[in-house]
Amino acid sequence: ISSLPTEKGLVSGNLYQYEGFWHTSEILQKILPYQNQFEARDSDIYLVTLPKSGTTWLKAMVFALVNRTQYNPNSNQQHPLVSNNPHQLVPFLESEPISNGVDSCPTDPRLIATHLPLVFLPESVKQSGCKIVYLCRNPKDNFVSLWHFTNKLRTEEMGCISLEETFDKFCRGVELFGPFWDHVLGYWKESLEKPDKVLFLKYEEMKENPGNHLRKIAEFIGCPISMEEESFNLVNQILELCSFDHLSNLEVNRAGRLSSGHSKSAFFRRGEVGDWKNHLTPEMAQKVDEIIKQKLGASGLTFY
Ligand code: A3P
Repeated sequence: ISSLPTEKGLVSGNLYQYEGFWHTSEILQKILPYQNQFEARDSDIYLVTLPKSGTTWLKAMVFALVNRTQYNPNSNQQHPLVSNNPHQLVPFLESEPISNGVDSCPTDPRLIATHLPLVFLPESVKQSGCKIVYLCRNPKDNFVSLWHFTNKLRTEEMGCISLEETFDKFCRGVELFGPFWDHVLGYWKESLEKPDKVLFLKYEEMKENPGNHLRKIAEFIGCPISMEEESFNLVNQILELCSFDHLSNLEVNRAGRLSSGHSKSAFFRRGEVGDWKNHLTPEMAQKVDEIIKQKLGASGLTFY
């Protein structure tokens, strides 16, 4: 680890560049070496994102979808999403002792989230019949969301990190699990090569037409919405349950912390498309456009 390129992370501790991506020392030492021991199941569903791309929303929607028979999204009886933060219901692979499997996964089929780049996914995830749903977000909003989140995590002692300093790191690809463009490109290519394995989604399109996205995800993971479910408006019930307004106003998401130490409310800010216009100068926006054109121009992947 001491021979790897190092940069100061956005919150605390250093990031290390290994095989093109930036990791914490914990991921390098405690997670990556055990990846070949992790046993994926054919029935597993992996929700993959870069931080601040809509992970919390995706976790909520897929949890509600997969468990809709057990928990009626429209019932007055407490739905787990009303009494738990979505991160408590869908664990991150990298937060688990993966040498022993994923211990805290409460669902069957297992719903497991990860921010790991494609090349670092455990071999069994790539080889088994499990499904991967990848959600990305336009890089400018992703960056702005990351900047706000970072400052919520920084202690008073550390002080705030400036937008400019964060932007400089983002443009150099220095963020946990980044560079942004290499992360999205890995999954984009995989989704083109293996459309039955990887479903590639965009936050902005999901905001635009969440119902169709929910149906698409349901079909992809093998539990399509039936005619009967359509007739009692299941799709809208799930969307309403998982909407930004509903989740962010729940008592459980307004206070308290996750076992990771993150404040639950930090995962809800505005939940909108285009907030970057309130933060980036025209020069900054142009710089991101240029980087994306250079890095992703030939791939056919475009952003809003
Ligand atoms: P903003 O900071 O732009 O508001 P992640 O879940 O990957 O950490 O991403 C967090 C981003 O998703 C934040 O974006 C947050 O507000 C937004 N978000 C959280 N819950 C959401 C929901 N139910 N619907 C839409 N966006 C949501």
